[in-house]
Amino acid sequence: MARLVIDSQEVSRYSLDDVLDAIIWGDALQVLPKLPDEMADMVFIDPPYFLQLPPKRLLRWKVKTVVEGVDEEWDKFENFEEYDRFISAILKEVRRIMKPKATVWCIGTYHNIHRIGKLMQDLGFWILNDVIWVKTNPMPNWLNVRFTNATETLIWAVKSKDVKGYTFNAEVARQFSKGKLALNVWELPICIGDERLKDEHGKKLHPTQKPKALMERVLLTSTKEGDVVLDPMAGTGTTGVVAQSLRRHFVMIEKQREYVDACLQRLNLETQQFSLEWR
Ligand SMILES: C[S@@+](CC[C@H](N)C(=O)[O-])C[C@H]1O[C@@H](n2cnc3c(N)ncnc32)[C@H](O)[C@@H]1O
Repeated sequence: MARLVIDSQEVSRYSLDDVLDAIIWGDALQVLPKLPDEMADMVFIDPPYFLQLPPKRLLRWKVKTVVEGVDEEWDKFENFEEYDRFISAILKEVRRIMKPKATVWCIGTYHNIHRIGKLMQDLGFWILNDVIWVKTNPMPNWLNVRFTNATETLIWAVKSKDVKGYTFNAEVARQFSKGKLALNVWELPICIGDERLKDEHGKKLHPTQKPKALMERVLLTSTKEGDVVLDPMAGTGTTGVVAQSLRRHFVMIEKQREYVDACLQRLNLETQQFSLEWR
């Protein structure tokens, strides 16, 4: 059974044993400071995008359907300054929690990834790559006022410029590329079909659930079996689900209870499949 840890003000510190292979229901800003120094071999951060959608839902004037975006409360910030403060606070704690040779991934779109890259560099992180995820089935832009956005960017970094000996499985990375080179371009569909979690009305449970295939690439290229992977904003828990199936450990944090529940359900289902496959 997947473990649930409910964070509370009474807890001032967590040991690795307390949180290993668990989803912590809580606010990452409160939980991260309680996690041990140098605990993680890899960190994956998929933060709010701060899409800044207008208050009224946009109507596609030609096709008269509603533009789907992320209009959840957790994606809202007053302004860029507040967003930057939030991301910086997360990144500072993540840097402390990373082992000396750990790496960190941050994923985002044009709305936020450039800010995140700057903040990372300001905090001393050393960027190794940006990996471009090319979506083979992007959401179309019917308004014809700009390009259809078909990419997300993953920044991959170490704690500082002098870090050597981090995990990079070049052979595996080559398999995800056309030709002989391990290129920084990954072509993959967005999460659809049976993989996409639905609510009781058949609607998407989470607006930005990442495909397992993307997380497999992240984990296979930058971690080893037995490594500890931290995801401080876990959503539906894709990181933990894939980590478990690849025999990595995970520590996940998520503040929305409905996503935590989905995460637990998903992990339990996968645990059953996992134990059958590895028997
Ligand atoms: C972009 S989504 C992550 C999606 C995830 N990778 C998946 O595959 O489902 C960002 C998540 O961060 C969560 N979140 C936002 N602020 C948070 C905070 N302060 N602490 C913990 N989680 C937070 C949101 O509830 C949301 O589920």
